[in-house]
Amino acid sequence: MAKRRSASETPVSQAKPFTPDESAPKTSELAEAIEQGKNDAICFFRNPEAFTVLKEKIFPQILKKHKSDEPVRVWTPGCSTGEEAYSIAISFTEFAGEFGKHIPIQVFATDLNDWGIEKARLGKYSKEIADTVFPERLRRFFTESESAYIVKKPIRDMIVFARQNILIDPPFSRLDLISCRDLLIHLKPVLHEQVFHTLHFSLKPTGVLWLGSSETIKSVSHLFLPLDEKHQFYTKKPVDTPG
Ligand SMILES: C[S@@+](CC[C@H](N)C(=O)[O-])C[C@H]1O[C@@H](n2cnc3c(N)ncnc32)[C@H](O)[C@@H]1O
Repeated sequence: MAKRRSASETPVSQAKPFTPDESAPKTSELAEAIEQGKNDAICFFRNPEAFTVLKEKIFPQILKKHKSDEPVRVWTPGCSTGEEAYSIAISFTEFAGEFGKHIPIQVFATDLNDWGIEKARLGKYSKEIADTVFPERLRRFFTESESAYIVKKPIRDMIVFARQNILIDPPFSRLDLISCRDLLIHLKPVLHEQVFHTLHFSLKPTGVLWLGSSETIKSVSHLFLPLDEKHQFYTKKPVDTPG
């Protein structure tokens, strides 16, 4: 069985577009199976109740099993224009502050869409984000200009944005958390199982998977156990997946 290559073997500072895996299906074969044109409602802290659970239940659980000198590793595949990755980095910073410790975090944020990745890297958003970002967070984590809010550098430095097709490019590995919210709704059901196997491979044995509210692990319940089903948090079951 071929060993699966991991994007995490690339140092963070060099994490540019990935080399396609030769053994993977060709893009042209997959393109047909990808459904386009979904109406995406992207915003910061989308589903705030789930972000509360992330801070109060999931981050503490991750840290319980975490070696103190290692960064917490997070992957957000299908990160679109970056709002979700920044929201996770901000939530973790708040959580670590309340915990009274400096805990490093690395967020790998990837998407198929080059335009989205470029926008995400800039970290510059319209004033409308004030609808979903509390004033205290805006003050602490953003710089305000006349027409925009710009994410401050300490938060931007926690995140590496890169173009990646989850169906064909090497995945990351040894992750504590994967937030894969509303990516699967872009893919035909026949591809969901392949993505779930990739996510299972990428998580640490104690890692947590976070899905979007309309996504389900039903077809792969042998791979994941519910942690908080209402808010779509799952943990990895110890099962070998094809490499
Ligand atoms: C609805 S957005 C999700 C945004 C983000 N996860 C959130 O919750 O705010 C879905 C994203 O998945 C990306 N996507 C679709 N197919 C993909 C693929 N095969 N590999 C990587 N990203 C993909 C799309 O470009 C889009 O930006």
